[in-house]
Amino acid sequence: MTNSERRISRQRSFLPLPGEAQPDWKIICDVAKRMGFGDAFDFKSPSEIFAEHAALSAFENNGTRDFDIGEFENISEEAFDRLEPFQWPRRAGSVSSPRMFGDGRFFTSDKKALFLTTGAEDVPRITNAFPMTLNSGRIRDHWHTLTRTGKSQRLSQHYGEPFAEIHPEDAARHNIKDADLVRVSTGSAFIIVRALVSARQRLGSIFVPMHWTDQFASKARVDTLVPAIVDPVSGQPASKNIAVRVERFVAEAFGFAVLSQKPKRIDAEYWALAKCNGGWRVELGFATSRGNWSTLAAELFGEPPNAETIAFHDRQSGRYRFACYRDEALLGALFLAPDPVAVSRDWAVGQLTAPHARAAVRFRLIAGRPGAGATDKGATVCSCFGVGANEIATAARRGCGTVAAIGETLQAGMSCGSCRAEIRAILDAQNLEAAE
Ligand code: FES
Repeated sequence: MTNSERRISRQRSFLPLPGEAQPDWKIICDVAKRMGFGDAFDFKSPSEIFAEHAALSAFENNGTRDFDIGEFENISEEAFDRLEPFQWPRRAGSVSSPRMFGDGRFFTSDKKALFLTTGAEDVPRITNAFPMTLNSGRIRDHWHTLTRTGKSQRLSQHYGEPFAEIHPEDAARHNIKDADLVRVSTGSAFIIVRALVSARQRLGSIFVPMHWTDQFASKARVDTLVPAIVDPVSGQPASKNIAVRVERFVAEAFGFAVLSQKPKRIDAEYWALAKCNGGWRVELGFATSRGNWSTLAAELFGEPPNAETIAFHDRQSGRYRFACYRDEALLGALFLAPDPVAVSRDWAVGQLTAPHARAAVRFRLIAGRPGAGATDKGATVCSCFGVGANEIATAARRGCGTVAAIGETLQAGMSCGSCRAEIRAILDAQNLEAAE
């Protein structure tokens, strides 16, 4: 793999290949052999392919092309297995340089850099009908389309569903409240995601992450909103500058479920599925309320044999709750409400692996809250150590005033560090509260 600072890293597999899967290089070599190119594709291992790639980069190069990793053209299998990350170019006999063109010599005839204007004009994109600019991108814990990170319950703890981050003033203008569902649309497509109202977002813009595909959410593929327009020079699509309309998705009912098994089908206008400890968690939104929610509950729980379901309905508030057990184990719990479900997600997920022998524990689950003495650690902030927002706030109230002090007490922020900004924000909010 090569990253954007030209660092080439050897990626090592950490799981055995599933089923009859083959590595990509092997599949390509096999196809090439069937096509009659056996001699040219007679590689025995990835190290032989890497060595040929390195030799090719140096072939008739003599400093005329920037990509040259000729240093590795005779790399052995053992050396390839031990290969440490390095930055190209790495000409034979040279060492990597962290800075390209550090000597001021470029690949032009007089070695001087040329600045070119592209002539591209700034095209006004937003209109009265589509007044917001959509910026799509990635969030800290996820990889591309969740093909890797979607399998990790720890990485799905931080954000369990797709969202649109929107500035409070824009949200107020569009009658959107935090945790509402929102419909983000262009002239030809729309998605439904959760609203995340935040002053971090710039006025007039919204941010939607790119990770959620149809495997993990009902309608959250942000790529469907990107118009078929590319930059005439770079060929890049305008995936960070899309004119959209944002409006509240009017849901008559909301739901949240924890399930020991992945559901086969989810019958809801909005759903988002995430791996969690002991199973799956599902966020739900329904355009219309239903007379009989028990059908949905049975479908989500998978109608397991020898299971027992208990149900609760508060007619006045319109809340429903279902829990399905087999012996002491919770197979699933479903919480439904006319407004966004306020159950603590981390606590509910924890119930999938907790024993449920006692009736009191089962009733507490149906009540949708931890019992006296049980703590709710809040939404996960530090995925590396599984530390929640409530735990950080409590530590702050007890005197941990800095990110470092939180790290010493709870470990949060002490590994990859990507949660430190959020820890800082919680500390700032606590300081503000204390000052008021
Ligand atoms: S998320 Fe990695 S240290 Fe907190």
